[in-house]
Amino acid sequence: MERSEDVRNQRLESLGQLAGGVAHDFNNILGVIVNYASFVVEEAESEQPDVRMIAADARQVIRAGERATHLTHQLLAFARREVVRPEVFDLNGFVAGLEDKLRRTVGERVALIIRPGADLPPVECDPGQIEHLLVKLADNARDAMPAGGNLVIDTGCSGDRVRLRVGDSGRGMSADVADRAFEPFFTTKPNGEGIGLGLAMVYGIVTQAGGDVSISSEPGLGTTVTVLLPPASPGSRPAPAGPVRTTGRGETLLVVDDEPGLRDVAGRILSGAGYRVIAAEGGPQALALAARHEGAIDLLLSDVVMPGMLGKDLAERLVTVRPDTRVLYMSGYAQPVLHSEGTLDPGVALLEKPFTADDLLRAVRRRLDL
Ligand SMILES: Nc1ncnc2c1ncn2[C@@H]1O[C@H](COP(=O)(O)OP(=O)(O)O)[C@@H](O)[C@H]1O
Ligand SMILES: [Mg+2]
Repeated sequence: MERSEDVRNQRLESLGQLAGGVAHDFNNILGVIVNYASFVVEEAESEQPDVRMIAADARQVIRAGERATHLTHQLLAFARREVVRPEVFDLNGFVAGLEDKLRRTVGERVALIIRPGADLPPVECDPGQIEHLLVKLADNARDAMPAGGNLVIDTGCSGDRVRLRVGDSGRGMSADVADRAFEPFFTTKPNGEGIGLGLAMVYGIVTQAGGDVSISSEPGLGTTVTVLLPPASPGSRPAPAGPVRTTGRGETLLVVDDEPGLRDVAGRILSGAGYRVIAAEGGPQALALAARHEGAIDLLLSDVVMPGMLGKDLAERLVTVRPDTRVLYMSGYAQPVLHSEGTLDPGVALLEKPFTADDLLRAVRRRLDL
């Protein structure tokens, strides 16, 4: 009894820490957004609006929005709720391709040494996530070596798994710190310098990929983070990728989202790029509009989680009547259309919220051209 109470208290304690961390960071960002947006309105409604000032203030809103996006991605990665797009690739080649970026991350005082292991089997995971992981580890290494030092990245085989190791010669961690280092919002860095999501994100990425991650560290001697990844299964092959055109040729899109702001934004971006847009606030309205529409509906662009009818059910019903209509989901929380490993069905495409105009246009074009 004692024991389970202990575990529960600990769990509540860390949930409290997580909620507090999220609230704190989002409050700061919201403060920036609300204030700059009011400046924009004030200036736009003044006698002689200064358009440059409006643009500069609006840009602050965008920047804050981008920070929030980054934050939610880190949280989702930690929670293993991020959509992953696994690919089969060679880790050595991938790390070599990141060398310049990592060098810029650690700065000039740190020597970056890469030691690729021989005969490495390919891995199967999301390369974008492995890049985030390496950048986060390089960030931490740089912070641990303010006066410079070495950062060694090596790869090799460990049993039947692929090992990726990142070691630094920095200040290291005490056992207490190492114990808590993967906790979200745990940081020893002074105000504002660290938010404590780096290693939490690394942990989420590695475990979602079916791997393990561990830290070994000695105060004063340095830190080594070891990642073990499962090798790619023999039948897997690399996913094709290519550049795409992003404008429309008058195709008709049915855009469904219960959030009016987002529906309006998507509609404006898409009509501006040459698509015809029919907008609906939910499944029932979308089906009614589709029934009344005489021409083709080339694509359904739908939110995943909506009150009344889920995006998945809407898509199924619409495609039954209009088999040529393609489907693209947009969601910030895609769990309902994902498999437990975080992957999508082959026929399903998903655009993650929040998205930029460019993200949206690319995703729509790719779905139409497939
Ligand atoms: N390479 C490292 N060397 C020494 N300490 C580290 C290293 N990486 C992480 N830590 C410790 O773990 C804590 C959590 O790291 P992280 O999750 O990346 O958050 P943040 O960097 O924002 O503090 C850091 O504040 C630091 O105390
Ligand atoms: Mg960090």
